[in-house]
Amino acid sequence: MRARLHIVSPKRNKRLQTGWEGFFPYYAGFPELFVREILDSAKLERDAVILDPWNGSGTTTYTASMLGYKACGIDLNPVMIIVARARLLPHSEADHLRPLAATILSHAHSSPPTIASDDPLLNWFEPEAASFVRGIEQNIRRSLIGSMTKSPDGVNLDKISGTAATLYVALFGACRKLVAPFRSSNPTWLRVPKADDDRVRASQFEIARQFGNNVRGMSEALAAKRDADLIEDAPRPGECKISLLDTTTMALRQESVDMVLTSPPYCTRIDYTAATRIELALLGPLLQTGARALGRQMIGSTQVPTDEIAVDPKWGRSCRRFLATLKAHPSKASGGYYYRTHLDYFEKMSRSIERLVTALKPDGQAIFVVQDSYYKDIHNDLPRIIGEMGIKHGLKLKRREDFHLRSMSDINRGRLTYARPSGATESVLCFVK
Ligand SMILES: C[S@@+](CC[C@H](N)C(=O)[O-])C[C@H]1O[C@@H](n2cnc3c(N)ncnc32)[C@H](O)[C@@H]1O
Repeated sequence: MRARLHIVSPKRNKRLQTGWEGFFPYYAGFPELFVREILDSAKLERDAVILDPWNGSGTTTYTASMLGYKACGIDLNPVMIIVARARLLPHSEADHLRPLAATILSHAHSSPPTIASDDPLLNWFEPEAASFVRGIEQNIRRSLIGSMTKSPDGVNLDKISGTAATLYVALFGACRKLVAPFRSSNPTWLRVPKADDDRVRASQFEIARQFGNNVRGMSEALAAKRDADLIEDAPRPGECKISLLDTTTMALRQESVDMVLTSPPYCTRIDYTAATRIELALLGPLLQTGARALGRQMIGSTQVPTDEIAVDPKWGRSCRRFLATLKAHPSKASGGYYYRTHLDYFEKMSRSIERLVTALKPDGQAIFVVQDSYYKDIHNDLPRIIGEMGIKHGLKLKRREDFHLRSMSDINRGRLTYARPSGATESVLCFVK
C-alpha cells in the first residue's frame, strides 16, 4: 500500500523563508516545508531517487538531500544551477566563506579590470562600478573555478564547487540590491535604464559592503543550521546532482527515478531568463549560450517559435479546446503571436512529460504543482490540462489538492480589463506510473 502524502500549501511564504532558506528566494519557488511534508509522509526507501526536472532555486534537491535521499535537479537556466548548487553547501564550509570573500575583494580593489565595451553589466552600472563588479566576479572565477570545472567548450556549470556557487549567489544578491531602482511591480522584470546617465553609480566601498554583508549573512545562517542539525541529529545528506539540461531533449536513465517532485514553468508568459537578466550578465564569461537563445529554449518562452507546431492529440481535450478558443479570440495578435507561443508551451511540456515518464520506475510517483491563469477572459485550466497530458503519456492521476491564491487584483479589482475571477488556483497533482 502506498502511503498517503501529506500536502501543505505550495505557496511561497516569506515568513517561513528565513535563515539559510531566506538566501534562496525565487518568485516561482515553493517552500521547503511543502517538500519536506511530502517526502516525510511518502515513506520511501532510504536509497530512493527524487528528481526535480524544473528545479529552479533547488528547493526539492536541497530538502530531499537533507533528508538523506538521492536527489537530481535539472534546469535550463545557468543562474538556477548555481543557486541550487550553493544551497547544498555543507555547513562545514561556513567558516571559510568570509576570509575567502575578503581575499577576493582585496584582489578586486587592487586591480579592477578594464571593462569590455560590450560587457552587459554596463546596461545597469556606469563604467567604474561595472568594472569593480566584474573584478569581483573575475576573482571568484579565477580563484575558485579550476581545470576540473572547465572543458574545451567552456565552463561546465554542473561541476562548479559549492563555495564558488555561494560566492556567486552573494554577488547576485549585491547586484540585485544595487539595481533595485530598476525593479518593477512585475517580479520577473528588471528594467534597463533609458539613458546612460541614469545608470547606477555605486562606489567600490558600497559594492564591497553589499557583497560582504551577503557573505557574512550566508556564513552565519549556515553555521546556525549546523548547530540546529547537531541538536536534531539530522541524517547525513544524500548525494545530489544538479544538471544544466533542457527537459525537452534530456536523456535520463530509464526507470531510475522513484519520485518526481516539481513545479513546471508557468503558462503566463513569464520569461524565466528575463527574470534573471542581471545574474546572466554577471555570468556572461561562463556561458555558452546567449540570453536570447536561452530565452527561446525555455518552456514559457515569449519568443515566437521558428518551426510550425501542430496540435497533438497527446496534449488532451482541454488543451485543444483552450487553444481553439484562444485562436478565435477577437483581440489583436491572439490568433498569431499568442496562439503560437502557447503552442510552443504545450509542445515543450508534452515532450518533457514523455521523457519524465520514461525515467520513472514502474509504480513511481510524480507530484506536479501547477497554477491556472487567464488569457484575457479565457480560463487556462493548466492543472486540468497537465492532468490530462500526464494520463495521455501513461500516468494515472490519483489525487488533486487545490489551494486558492489571492492576487493583487483581489485588492484592486477595479483595474481588471476582462471579467474573470480573482486570484489563482494552485493545484498539487499526484500521479502514479
Ligand atoms: C516554476 S520554476 C521552478 C521553481 C522551483 N520549484 C523552486 O522551488 O525554486 C520553473 C523552472 O523551470 C525552468 N525551465 C524552463 N524551461 C526549461 C526547460 N526547457 N528545461 C529545464 N528547465 C526549464 C526555469 O528556468 C525555472 O527555473
